[in-house]
Amino acid sequence: MPETQDVVTMEKIVALCKRRGFIFPSSEIYGGLGSTYDYGHYGVLLKNNVKAEWWRAMLQEHDDIVALDSAILQHPRVWEASGHLAGFTDPMVDCRTCKQRFRADHLGELQCGQKPSKHPGEAEQCDLTEARDFNLMFETTVGPVKESGSAAYLRPETAQGIFINFKNVLQFSRKKPPFGIAQVGKSFRNEITPGNFIFRTREFEQMEMEFFVPPAEAGRWYDYWKTERHDWYVRLGIRPDHLTLREHDPDELSHYSSGTSDVEYLFPIGWSELEGIANRGDFDLTQHTEYSGEKLEYFDQGSGERYVPHVIEPAAGADRATLAFLVDAYDEEDVDGSQRTVLKLHPRLAPVKVAVLPLVRKDGQPELAREVTDALKRRFQTEYDESGTVGKRYRRHDEIGTPWCVTIDHESLENRTVTVRDRDSLAQERVPIDELVGHIAARLAADWRSPKLG
Ligand code: GAP
Repeated sequence: MPETQDVVTMEKIVALCKRRGFIFPSSEIYGGLGSTYDYGHYGVLLKNNVKAEWWRAMLQEHDDIVALDSAILQHPRVWEASGHLAGFTDPMVDCRTCKQRFRADHLGELQCGQKPSKHPGEAEQCDLTEARDFNLMFETTVGPVKESGSAAYLRPETAQGIFINFKNVLQFSRKKPPFGIAQVGKSFRNEITPGNFIFRTREFEQMEMEFFVPPAEAGRWYDYWKTERHDWYVRLGIRPDHLTLREHDPDELSHYSSGTSDVEYLFPIGWSELEGIANRGDFDLTQHTEYSGEKLEYFDQGSGERYVPHVIEPAAGADRATLAFLVDAYDEEDVDGSQRTVLKLHPRLAPVKVAVLPLVRKDGQPELAREVTDALKRRFQTEYDESGTVGKRYRRHDEIGTPWCVTIDHESLENRTVTVRDRDSLAQERVPIDELVGHIAARLAADWRSPKLG
């Protein structure tokens, strides 16, 4: 397995993101606000492409999944039912022996289940985990006046918005398990130890899908989604040997989960979670049924069968995935004696697909380049660029990962052809202007394999 010394440093990624306008520290003119970031132009385009690929995989490539966009603010009871209010409130430790959970800061006042009764951790049999799950809920107030009963929470995961809409979606979509509900949106956690750039922040975007299945099929679908989600990253160019699927040990499992696997990626900080796939059983629908009084179940009118579906949940982070794609794409190499930094991103993820560069700013080249840009931009994110030497412009587009640079030269004015330069192979091909849109479309649709794989 590769080690972190084979991986670009986080400092280089942060510097490139700042230099090229992908991601900036937030509130910078006020000295910054710890672990919050603002996305600039190329960062927005890149993260949008990551989310678009996720939606494509969920909605276009699966006809048994529907979309949802639920509110960030939800009824406070949602978070009682989900267990977040109790479980996310304090530093907690679990005892692997007696399976009890304790507040880490109250161990000296609590009694553990062992006889004779002692404080947790005191008896020989006690086997406490590290403290975890701090106060992750962001509390706010609904209405302008802070008064009792006005507390609400910014959602710490998008998943609960899906569970509380289970009945709505079932009615409108007429779906029958197995089927899924997918959602992308912001989540908020008052992380005690945020850090490592956009790896762990207090405000972040999730891409989550809850897949509702007949209970007897849960194991099969759990395996299916583990493979499917791992392969999604590979299809989008992540090197397979920098990705792994890791099954959680029983003592690592969340309170709702009977099985969880993480897709881990070799980040500059080491192997870390990129996405989690959990078998949540019927925990959530059962909890919301109990707390809301609404029956959340599936009733098959044909067979008369009635059951609470089990849930398989692939839960990814859009920011964390963006970071993984940046890290995996980053490269430095020697070209004709000078060093270039290049993002070898999958063309579908690249913020800009094609740059149009007139060789000189005269002789009708800028006008022709504008005409070519206008034709291309109807189909692709295109950038017209005439500033600096052509070499500098190539370097700039290498650094933001633009897969193709179209150069307009004197020959273009004579025979209406242009050169298309490939970011990865550096090969240049002469293409008639009239065929350029089709040429780029075909290259964008073609299978792609990371040139880092050799
Ligand atoms: N609904 C299940 C759930 O939320 P999670 O493992 O806590 O599971 C899922 O979160 C994914 O969301 C993680 O794998 C990660 O990619 C992303 N994520 C979670 N907390 C994050 C944070 N503080 N900053 C950035 N991304 C985060």
